[in-house]
Amino acid sequence: MVKVAMLSAGILASVIFAQKVFENYKSWNHVKSMVIHSPQHPLYEPFGGIHHIYANDKAMQAIKLGKGRKFPEGSVLVFLLYDIEEAKGAFTEGAKKIEAFMVKDSSKYPSTGGWGFFAYDGRGNNLVKDMKQDCFNCHAQVKDMDYVFSRYKE
Ligand code: HEC
Repeated sequence: MVKVAMLSAGILASVIFAQKVFENYKSWNHVKSMVIHSPQHPLYEPFGGIHHIYANDKAMQAIKLGKGRKFPEGSVLVFLLYDIEEAKGAFTEGAKKIEAFMVKDSSKYPSTGGWGFFAYDGRGNNLVKDMKQDCFNCHAQVKDMDYVFSRYKE
């Protein structure tokens, strides 16, 4: 019982940690944006919408590199997803759908490529039950890019 209580306190602490520490990420580096607007795209469910990717300065050192790149400890990447609103020939950002984070800390997250994975819905509710199943297994496709899909365009 005590063990369960300690465990859930630990999870809660890490959720609060991720939200508090990263609330300023919009003033970090913008890496890229993308619009997934149709079910033709394999990730329409659950990632349909307009998303932006941000990187802190440490992550930015590696993002421009190609295969074999390694992100330094302390790197943080953010995936921010909005619904799409379409009117008069334009797509604009609607309600916030998902805020997702990857935090490089190899000693803390050895079983998920050295990355901690966190995600919240538009109201801040935790979406990750199992980092490996919910997030890492898909990111494992880009192991040779240190599990990060995004590339930077000049
Ligand atoms: C089905 C595959 C899939 C799953 C599951 C998935 N992602 Fe991703 N993720 C992607 C793809 C593809 C991109 C790149 C999007 C782009 O190029 O703009 C991405 C991008 C990201 C990024 C920006 C860094 C990067 O790799 O480009 C973060 C942060 C992120 N995801 C976190 C998460 C978290 C946290 C979870 C678990 C809740 C998760 N992802 C689950 C496919 C996935």
